[in-house]
Amino acid sequence: MVLKIARRGQIPPFIAMDVLRAANERALAGDDVLHLEVGQPSTPAPSAVLAAAHGALESETLGYTDALGLPPLRTAIAAHYRQHYGVAIDPGRVVVTTGSSGAFLIAFLAAFDPGDRVGLASPSYPAYRNILRALDLVPVELPAGAGQRYQATPDLVRGHQGRLDGLIVASPANPTGTMLTPDEIAALGRYCLEMGIRFISDEIYHGITFGETAATALASCDEAIVVNSFSKYFSMTGWRLGWMVAPPALVRASECLAQNLFISPPALSQHAAIAAFQSRDELDANVARYAANRALLLAELPKAGFDRFAPADGAFYLYADVGHLTNDSPEFCRRMLREIGVACTPGTDFDPARGHATLRLSFAGTEATIVEAARRLTSWRR
Ligand SMILES: Cc1ncc(COP(=O)(O)O)c(C=O)c1O
Repeated sequence: MVLKIARRGQIPPFIAMDVLRAANERALAGDDVLHLEVGQPSTPAPSAVLAAAHGALESETLGYTDALGLPPLRTAIAAHYRQHYGVAIDPGRVVVTTGSSGAFLIAFLAAFDPGDRVGLASPSYPAYRNILRALDLVPVELPAGAGQRYQATPDLVRGHQGRLDGLIVASPANPTGTMLTPDEIAALGRYCLEMGIRFISDEIYHGITFGETAATALASCDEAIVVNSFSKYFSMTGWRLGWMVAPPALVRASECLAQNLFISPPALSQHAAIAAFQSRDELDANVARYAANRALLLAELPKAGFDRFAPADGAFYLYADVGHLTNDSPEFCRRMLREIGVACTPGTDFDPARGHATLRLSFAGTEATIVEAARRLTSWRR
């Protein structure tokens, strides 16, 4: 008898991770592959974090922690909001999670019932819609273009005709890097509160900005669920640690979900992460490198015919319109990997309807990687 695969398990892949696997296979076979497909820093965790991890290995049992996270880490995260944004947060509202990915699972389960409809801009981070689907929730695409800076702006959300139970925004966003202004975030928070819509702000790229600094939704909306992570600015991607700041009424539900789904976030990562907030100089040096990589790509890529980018205000991506070069971005990316060993992610990961004409390049790599990628792309397209 053939046993079924559940409908909820049949979600689309996270294409960037599929491209990473293909790129790693080529690298194992001896190709010199440049990774511009995944969004992860090419640096290790800051030195104070590594020292704290060594210390914890020597001195701690490293068993389960509180499901909501180690109290000193929750306090350090709350202090970060005070110091960095001037916003007072009760550490009791901080839920430490296994990456922001764990936070999304907890937040969606705590806030939504099956069938609830959650709005998100397209293009946006693919796992939002794919996790929602796995939970029997309905992702509602809000197609955003250059006019909205690819964001779910207040006007776009107000103009949507159907019911929304939730709204997810990210500023800076993946894949475009565009940002919402503090006023736009405040307006979205107010609108959501008025309409009974759960407002979720993904702030994972905070700290990685190239002009304006990013505003937290917590500055204007106490009811927002704010998600963040040690994976990007803090350069701790594989430590699998993130957090969310939940409205007080959702904390106990989040705790019960965390207890049962994960028991606790990883203990070693939590002990180490307490030191991350004292590592700003080291981390800001990484951001300076991202800025230099971004400038280099923006100067060089037009020579390869890539000259239409979303305004990358933050994060470490360029989202390129390649509609004049291809109408099949997955095949275009496969060819790029096969012919010049440059891995990048087709836009279909972020925008299933329109992403056949776009692709995303990550500039989180080393300067040498980005220089060489630009060289290969320009000679490929000549
Ligand atoms: C916008 C956005 N949110 C969330 C995540 C998940 O990151 P993590 O689970 O490592 O915190 C990513 C990863 O690339 C992302 O780009």
